[in-house]
Amino acid sequence: MKILITGANGQVGRELALRAAARGFAAIAMTRSELDIGERDAVARQLDRHAPELLINAAAYTAVDRAEQDVATCERINRDASGLLAEACAARGIPLFHLSTDYVFDGRLGRPYREEDPPHPVNRYGQSKWAGERRVREHLDRHLILRVAWVFGPHGNNFVKTIARLAREREELGIVADQLGSPTPAGAIADTLLELARRLQVGELPWGTYHYAGTPDTSWYDFARAIVARLPGKTARLNPITTADYPTPAPRAANTRLDCARIARTLGIPRPAWADALSEPGLLDP
Ligand SMILES: NC(=O)c1ccc[n+]([C@@H]2O[C@H](COP(=O)([O-])OP(=O)(O)OC[C@H]3O[C@@H](n4cnc5c(N)ncnc54)[C@H](OP(=O)(O)O)[C@@H]3O)[C@@H](O)[C@H]2O)c1
Repeated sequence: MKILITGANGQVGRELALRAAARGFAAIAMTRSELDIGERDAVARQLDRHAPELLINAAAYTAVDRAEQDVATCERINRDASGLLAEACAARGIPLFHLSTDYVFDGRLGRPYREEDPPHPVNRYGQSKWAGERRVREHLDRHLILRVAWVFGPHGNNFVKTIARLAREREELGIVADQLGSPTPAGAIADTLLELARRLQVGELPWGTYHYAGTPDTSWYDFARAIVARLPGKTARLNPITTADYPTPAPRAANTRLDCARIARTLGIPRPAWADALSEPGLLDP
């Protein structure tokens, strides 16, 4: 099966590109410089040239704080380009796997979010991703939207790498302890998408929206403790702080844990254990 992957330089995109061939897929992995998903003509040209049987969109604007100022760029990529890809796929009969985020929710529910819970994003990034989801649904029936959370892996920037670096450099670190979520390894997301691609090869999928995130749910503080515990040598002392102690340009939701029962029930896919992925080569290296 021929798969076109966008955003191939990102955390998930890189893992997809690295893992696809080993699973027997002919992957065309395109970075932003090879395919800007916001360019309608370029998207049409690449789809016509490669004629993939599946498009996996791993491209996105993910700078949550920068998005508050850079609204137009964020919306162009996360909302408009997502719709544009879905339209282009619909015109050619190509299914689309698309990624979204726990940040579509406002965090006030008090229990893990299910797919049918109404989104209400609290920042520009979350708003643009929610708008992108709606565009995908509007234009294309054969879509699978995977909402993931707190993504980390050896390629690209993420919380794990930042904490590992700061813990080596500093004496003390204050880490937010009152935001809960579900850290998710980029490699596990890629494996799940490729497993779903394999199933698509042999039959139709139950299309729609699924939550997929690592287990167990945790706070940034406890996640940081698990990271620092794996570092050799002298490391910073970690102190729990509150969201109010750590103001950021983009507001953050307090509790965006994802209920992943639907993907387990419908597709038999379990949540990955995030702690296992902390020992991936390259992740915690200086
Ligand atoms: N990171 C998280 O914690 C997190 C949490 C929840 C959901 N998600 C979602 O998961 C998905 C994958 O995230 P990730 O962590 O892998 O993101 P990432 O590491 O930031 O990668 C995104 C990639 O998209 C590329 N890109 C940006 N604009 C583009 C454009 N116009 N055309 C083509 N490519 C473009 C970027 O290119 P450059 O390398 O050139 O910048 C980057 O390589 C996204 O949909 C994201 O919203 C992420």
